[in-house]
Amino acid sequence: MECFRIIGPTRIRGEVTASGAKNAALPALAASLLTEGALELSGLPAVRDIRTMRQLLAHLGVESEERGEVVRLQSRERARPDEAPYELVKTMRASILVLGPLVSRLGQARVSLPGGCAIGVRPIDQHLAGLEALGAEVHLEHGYVSARARRLTGAVFRFTQPTVTGTENLMMAGCLAKGTTVLENCAQEPEVRDLATLLGKMGARIQGAGSERIEIEGVETLTSASHRVIPDRIEIGTYLLAAAMTGGEILVRGAQSADLAPLLEKLTESGCELEVSNDGLQLHRPGELKPRDILTAPHPGFPTDLQAQYMAVMTQATGQATICETVFENRFQHVPELARMGADIQIQGAFAHVHGPTPLSGARVMATDLRASACLVLAGIAAAGETVVGRIYHLDRGYERMELKLQQLGARVERLPAEPTRAAATL
Ligand code: UD1
Repeated sequence: MECFRIIGPTRIRGEVTASGAKNAALPALAASLLTEGALELSGLPAVRDIRTMRQLLAHLGVESEERGEVVRLQSRERARPDEAPYELVKTMRASILVLGPLVSRLGQARVSLPGGCAIGVRPIDQHLAGLEALGAEVHLEHGYVSARARRLTGAVFRFTQPTVTGTENLMMAGCLAKGTTVLENCAQEPEVRDLATLLGKMGARIQGAGSERIEIEGVETLTSASHRVIPDRIEIGTYLLAAAMTGGEILVRGAQSADLAPLLEKLTESGCELEVSNDGLQLHRPGELKPRDILTAPHPGFPTDLQAQYMAVMTQATGQATICETVFENRFQHVPELARMGADIQIQGAFAHVHGPTPLSGARVMATDLRASACLVLAGIAAAGETVVGRIYHLDRGYERMELKLQQLGARVERLPAEPTRAAATL
């Protein structure tokens, strides 16, 4: 299994360019199922989740072709099955995004249940209740969700809690439904807004995406469109945090500040200097890092996808920072690994109390999920000596060329084809 070997400590310094957002690209790809026309998408990051979604779409009869930076997708009418099999769905929960489009355009779908996930139970009850509200008959059998409807019909549906892919699934389903669909208590993430922009270009009539209430007036068909996905705010945040943690200086090209407001606020309060320009976001940490508490919450709250990386940074702040995770019930799996590197963190239910600053020392650690992997990489860059981060296949799901970007920023990180049998700091 591939791993990262990191020799630290190093200060992050330099420039890096933001990739397109994985979480915007996934629903944009799924939207190709909604039309016979061609979708031309650019800015798709070269990460494993995107390859998985393209494989799944190919299985569902969507032909895709790369022309330089643009991926052209075309769904072949009727020549496709309407089933998303377990082998493809099990590695990526976001596969559920094909359910809404398949039911609304083909009238039926059979999608494997995404299964368990390391960071929590993550049910899809809201996706299913929403489709039922639009008139679909939904059954669970043999680990699959089957949904059927001659044509979905617009309705009012209120999510019991905001769900990002749930909102995206139902927004796509509502586009081709008969009449008006009103979704309430929606996820307000920028990626939901980006999907609505794409659907709008395809001819959908959507209002309110990015707010708590979305109204969709169903249309008969959707057409071809071209779209560039937004930059990845989680990737951008990760690199800003790497610079903050190591007392460095960074320019993230292509970064937009509005979508990162909750993180930028905390970074400023903790002593970092930030500058927003046409080029992107610049961060510099001139002095000591101050501890600042965070509470993760749906957008515009502090993103749960940056919680682990932020925790790594707080190990270097002077004093105690409390981190409260409210979105997922089991998202502190990086804590024991950070502790192996010397961090002092106590967990009490949904709270983690981080006492800093603690000098970190390189160790062998294991990635448990996508964002926890990034947290361990940051810790490795700040730690003295050699760190080996195992199971980086988690990292490869969502970070494009991470080791190359970090090398460009001065970090001593390399990808090894297998975990070394003994420590050898020879980078
Ligand atoms: C998306 C992101 C993921 C991020 C998460 C929260 C994508 C592809 N992934 O995941 O990176 O960590 O948002 O910002 O965009 N829930 C239910 N019932 C449902 C659906 C969700 O109870 O039917 C719960 C979940 O268990 C979780 C919370 O709602 O506690 C939020 O989950 P959700 O927003 O759905 O996450 P995803 O869309 O899977």
